[in-house]
Amino acid sequence: MLTPEMTESIKKVEETRAQRMQCEPVRMSAAEKDALLKQYHPDYRDKGFTEIAVGPNRGQKVPAELGALLHAESRLKGHAPDPEQIDIDVDVLVIGGGGAGAAAAIEAHRAGAKVMIVTKLRIGDANTMMAEGGIQAADQENDSPMQHYLDAFGGGHFAAKPELLRKLVMEAPEAILWLNELGVMFDKDENGRMITTHGGGTSRKRMHACKDYSGAEIMRTLRDEVLNLGIPVMEFTSAVELCKDGHDRVTGAVLLNMETDDYLVARAKTVILATGGAGRLHYQHFPTSNHYGATADGLILGYRAGARLLYQDTIQYHPTGAAWPSQLHGSLVTEKVRSLGAMLVNRDGEVFMHPLETRDVAAAAIIRECGDRNKGVDTGFGSGVWLDTPMIEQIGGPGTIEKRIPAMLRMYLNYDIDMRTQPILVYPTLHYQNGGLDIAEDSSVNGVPGLFAAGEVVGGIHGRNRLMGNSLLDIIVFGRNAGKAAAAAAKETAPGKLSLDHVAAYAKELEAAGVHSEAVSPLLLPAYARHSRGGAQ
Ligand code: FUM
Repeated sequence: MLTPEMTESIKKVEETRAQRMQCEPVRMSAAEKDALLKQYHPDYRDKGFTEIAVGPNRGQKVPAELGALLHAESRLKGHAPDPEQIDIDVDVLVIGGGGAGAAAAIEAHRAGAKVMIVTKLRIGDANTMMAEGGIQAADQENDSPMQHYLDAFGGGHFAAKPELLRKLVMEAPEAILWLNELGVMFDKDENGRMITTHGGGTSRKRMHACKDYSGAEIMRTLRDEVLNLGIPVMEFTSAVELCKDGHDRVTGAVLLNMETDDYLVARAKTVILATGGAGRLHYQHFPTSNHYGATADGLILGYRAGARLLYQDTIQYHPTGAAWPSQLHGSLVTEKVRSLGAMLVNRDGEVFMHPLETRDVAAAAIIRECGDRNKGVDTGFGSGVWLDTPMIEQIGGPGTIEKRIPAMLRMYLNYDIDMRTQPILVYPTLHYQNGGLDIAEDSSVNGVPGLFAAGEVVGGIHGRNRLMGNSLLDIIVFGRNAGKAAAAAAKETAPGKLSLDHVAAYAKELEAAGVHSEAVSPLLLPAYARHSRGGAQ
């Protein structure tokens, strides 16, 4: 039920709509954006961060919740299985059953490797499945990979690793063709041409979508291909430590069967980490749009094995998380809503930013509006600003919402909110980990032979902020890349000895640094899970 304040405010949104639709909103200057970010973006708050005590990133800033996991004890302390008692023996072990893991497994299998996926939930329980708005690729006449590069490089504050971003944009058109051939049902016009739209920070329309089910459709297709190829998938099984050969090379992993609590040892010539993001750590108490298993496990496993983290202090808060009703708190309201024309307006129906600013700038502007400017709408458990969705029907014609964003329409109709006629309340939600493991162009993890990584566990592809649609792209480009490279490396590698010496050495480093923790990591499931398995939160 709308509160009287909401009803009053909606009247103002309606009154200002016609006039707003006549004016082109003003863009902020670079200096204005910088000042806004520094004052209001959560990445710039002193509170909420800690310093990493050991390892390659010692002394650097990290979100406190992730820091606690990096400083926690291994789950295997006191009851490690004998790593030489091998239960599973493969060429390539893929840890993670989301889009990046599935794409990697498909390519490793096609390259002739004996490959297995292990995943702590079910295959497809991943942020890929939750992605809505689309996947970027510069494949239209007025566009080019160079243009795509410039947009993404600027949007990421010029911090992306150039060779990774170059690969991302250059291989994007081929990624779309690959998915199309696998059977992804992209939105197409009556002539069979793909329909493309803008996202925040894009200078060309290059967002390819499957309505607002883009991630679900891509994941459906990848999962079908994995199953059709007969690639073994071990579900409800987490990797809890990597194994190394006693020196530098990764040679497998210790797995935990989450149904029986038994440990298993998997030997592999190469290992691919595709464990996804960290939204379920709820940094700075933000709600999240992430799936249930997004608990940063790959960062912990990789870091203990000697991998370096890049930009671990930069987090993406998606500007348009659902702020009301409470049942939807933090759920994703796809950026496609903004790209179809809905404006963000405050309690008085005033526009306070250009609708297609990049996500970090948009999130900071909303936080300012609801905070210092006191122009938010009270939800009873927080506040939010309006996303004026009826504008979409006025711009695109009646029926546009049902045709282009049916998932959004249905999500709100479940709560008797018709976004075709009524604006919706939004506030930033924890959406994406910009940082992660430092990889080379072939997806190998720098400094850790035998280990590869793809997807949200990787840092550096997007710099300090990612544009919409570039993560569905990176899971395909770098997932495929990791699968091919790991299979090729496996051909050159004999099965190695398995040891957990590096885990013991890491524990000694923590002790020497005076860090004592009762907690264990990786977390595996959020602290509020029925069987949370006692993590660091
Ligand atoms: O807004 C969205 O649909 C999310 C897309 C993304 O994170 O790339």
